[in-house]
Amino acid sequence: MHMQKIIVANWKMVVKKEQLVSLVEVVGQADKTNLEVALCPSFVHLTEVASLINNKNIGLGAQNCFWVEHGAYTGEVSAWDLKDEGCQYVLVGHSERRKYFSESDEIINKKLLAVLEVGLTPILCVGETKEEKDAGHTLERVREQLQKDLVNVILKDSRIIIAYEPVWAIGTGDFCKPNDAEEVQSMIKEEFTKITGVAEVAVLYGGSVDDKNVAEFLKQNSIDGVLVGGASTKVEVLGKLLANSI
Ligand code: PGA
Repeated sequence: MHMQKIIVANWKMVVKKEQLVSLVEVVGQADKTNLEVALCPSFVHLTEVASLINNKNIGLGAQNCFWVEHGAYTGEVSAWDLKDEGCQYVLVGHSERRKYFSESDEIINKKLLAVLEVGLTPILCVGETKEEKDAGHTLERVREQLQKDLVNVILKDSRIIIAYEPVWAIGTGDFCKPNDAEEVQSMIKEEFTKITGVAEVAVLYGGSVDDKNVAEFLKQNSIDGVLVGGASTKVEVLGKLLANSI
């Protein structure tokens, strides 16, 4: 179990430019002694957020990347450029990327390997759909994603964070019961060790986490932090969420 809980804010395409200052301010003011906090704004807001978080003990992450360093790939952003922009983390394989942009496990694996090569920390998102859950296939599905997404991963000084995000719980208010998440998260830890040979991995829970339920999630043994979408985009809720995470 990690001593510092990890709180990652995924601002998706939701947060507007005019919200950046107040959101960073509320994170800056929060007591982060026992927290590792990272903000993942859209690509176009990375530079501004990088300067706003300066000296505030707040990490910066991107929501996606491309796996090639440099070249003629119109519209793409390379992991190398994200590092230059000040990122330490990159979300990889978020279910919205899998669903709306047809990202396969093979593509996700390439992105993950690129992020590691650059020396950034990938936050790999995995999770089952409602149909898979109802069919009783949650553990099998998540295990399969890990096996495919982590192919050829060799960890030396780098680290990977895994986020368990049941697709049915994202943006729905229908969060996974912390006890149920705990079961999947502990399987993820075991499977990660089997695949990579590395004993320790931080596993986050994501999917309708808010200021009211965050403490219950963070109490679980196998939950090292949370990946928060909607609740991280509102100043007041984000402030409360961080206060309740200590
Ligand atoms: P949510 O999103 O907190 O709005 O459910 C979480 C995520 O997609 O990372």
